[in-house]
Amino acid sequence: MPVFYIACKPKAQSYRHLFATADHVEPGLPKNVLQSTATIIAKPCTPAMSETLNIPSNASKETVYDSLITQLSALIAAETDRTAALANVTAALHEALGFFWTGFYLIKNDRLTLNVFQGPIACSRIAYGRGVCGTAWAEKRTIKVDDVDEFPGHIACSSLSRSEIVVPLVKNGKVLGVLDIDSDKPTMFDDTDREKLEKLCEIIVCTCF
Ligand code: SME
Repeated sequence: MPVFYIACKPKAQSYRHLFATADHVEPGLPKNVLQSTATIIAKPCTPAMSETLNIPSNASKETVYDSLITQLSALIAAETDRTAALANVTAALHEALGFFWTGFYLIKNDRLTLNVFQGPIACSRIAYGRGVCGTAWAEKRTIKVDDVDEFPGHIACSSLSRSEIVVPLVKNGKVLGVLDIDSDKPTMFDDTDREKLEKLCEIIVCTCF
């Protein structure tokens, strides 16, 4: 399995951006190979915070999720800053699974408030019970929407969004926020997404809150 070494520049915002800003690639390997890389080793700017993300290529969605969950669990356990931990979770999910929008809303002042995300800009506050996110908050359960046009009250942050899954972050019976993921294709989320994302969110709640 090929391994690529990349030195991350300060403003790299995602792995895709990181590819574009890589200033060192293992000798003899063309940079465009990075787009289909099986193993990526990102060396952050702070030498003590070395991180590795291995994304299995040509693997099932379930395998990709399992691999991500194992790696992200270790990554966030080693990170004391919640924003840094959640930011890496969004970047890893977004890049590994090719979502349209991936991000967290956390409850502040009685509103779901936009937190770290990957994708187009989004609405910054959502009220209890409003849209898919506010419904997941109110009902304390994962909401999976095959066609956003069929969901009453769906909040369209982007007209390109076609399907969506929202998983609440619940601690001691209280919702702290949600993980919201959008696809630009209809019916993109199934029970594998639900099961794996719920598992990841349980780990996030235990580790970061
Ligand atoms: N569609 C969401 C709003 C958030 S964006 O999708 C990023 C909703 O209906 O709550």
